[in-house]
Amino acid sequence: MAMVCLSDFEAYAKKYLPKIAWDFFAAGADDCSTRDENILAYKRIRFRPRMLRDVSVMDIRTKLLETEISFPVGIAPTGFHQLAWPDGEKSTARAAKAMNTCYIASTYSTCTLEEISVAAPGGLRWFQLYIHRNRAVSQQLVQRAEALGFQALVLTADLPYTGKRRDDVRNGFRLPPHMKLKNLEGAFEVCKMSPSFHSLHWHVPHETKTTGLDPSVTWNDIYWLRSLTHLPIIIKGILTKEDAELAVRHGVQGIIVSNHGGRQLDGGPATVDALVEVVEAVQGRVEVYLDGGIRKGSDVLKALALGAKCVFIGRPALWGLAYKGEEGLQDVLRILQDEFRLAMALAGCASVSEIGRHLVHFSNL
Ligand code: FNR
Repeated sequence: MAMVCLSDFEAYAKKYLPKIAWDFFAAGADDCSTRDENILAYKRIRFRPRMLRDVSVMDIRTKLLETEISFPVGIAPTGFHQLAWPDGEKSTARAAKAMNTCYIASTYSTCTLEEISVAAPGGLRWFQLYIHRNRAVSQQLVQRAEALGFQALVLTADLPYTGKRRDDVRNGFRLPPHMKLKNLEGAFEVCKMSPSFHSLHWHVPHETKTTGLDPSVTWNDIYWLRSLTHLPIIIKGILTKEDAELAVRHGVQGIIVSNHGGRQLDGGPATVDALVEVVEAVQGRVEVYLDGGIRKGSDVLKALALGAKCVFIGRPALWGLAYKGEEGLQDVLRILQDEFRLAMALAGCASVSEIGRHLVHFSNL
């Protein structure tokens, strides 16, 4: 089967992954309207391409907090990569390094941070944090990540409780017994539950069975995090200008506009729509990134035109892993890279610095 675009990897993953794993990756909350809107929103944005602008030499590199990457697409944090490929996050790290881009490793990795680091020494990696009720667990994780050379901390702000993902509830989703949330193994003795149960179920507020995550986290906890680490702090899950302003005021270095791939609050905006108000509020004071619904190089170009410095892919990375591990994920990144370069050239931009708001308009469709 010729793999031409990201949908080909999606079709492969759907066909060959066990149904329970496919459903977990694909899931959105409730009736998935926000998940689907993330993708539909790109169709309402149209280019205003410019012609005759010498696109014979293309430069698609950019910088993330001063570190150069080969093109403005990184890998969003997603849990449980061993459900897609036996080597799990080690393969993800190798692919990201080979493509010279950024990999945000999840708290819910099925490999340890140490294994991830050893798999791809020197690769650009950020660590995504969920704050645990037992703060010592989170503190240790942050300090381990910093000592291992992770270059930023990504605090996910949109998961005080896990969204209601119907297929996971129907399937009784849990990790197979041989897979573990490797970075949290010791933590479960404290909260008296099994690592394979952790986080995988829908949780209503006040339910006694909990994920171990702390739903009482507030903006003040950014100061607590700041006291633990010298790493830049990036906040993930911001969708409004009010929260963007609070993030800047609390001293973060970056914002990821994200709705968790539509897996949390159903009915929220598509991320590319929310991007506009966040970028306007931030006024260049910190870098703004986006994830959710990126499936083509032209989607990347639209997000950059609306002010994102870089975008991140969640599910497409998992489809790449499911196809052929590290090689499959490299294929996904290479296809996106080629499509992005072509879209830029056809829109009349020879370098990323030429991409701007003038390049797009919102159609009335
Ligand atoms: C996620 N996401 C996520 N986010 C996070 O901060 N920590 C995590 O552990 C996870 N885990 C996770 C698992 C799976 C299976 C999915 C699909 C998503 C959200 C992720 O970082 C990102 O916001 C979305 O995946 C982006 O949307 P797309 O690219 O999947 O459309």
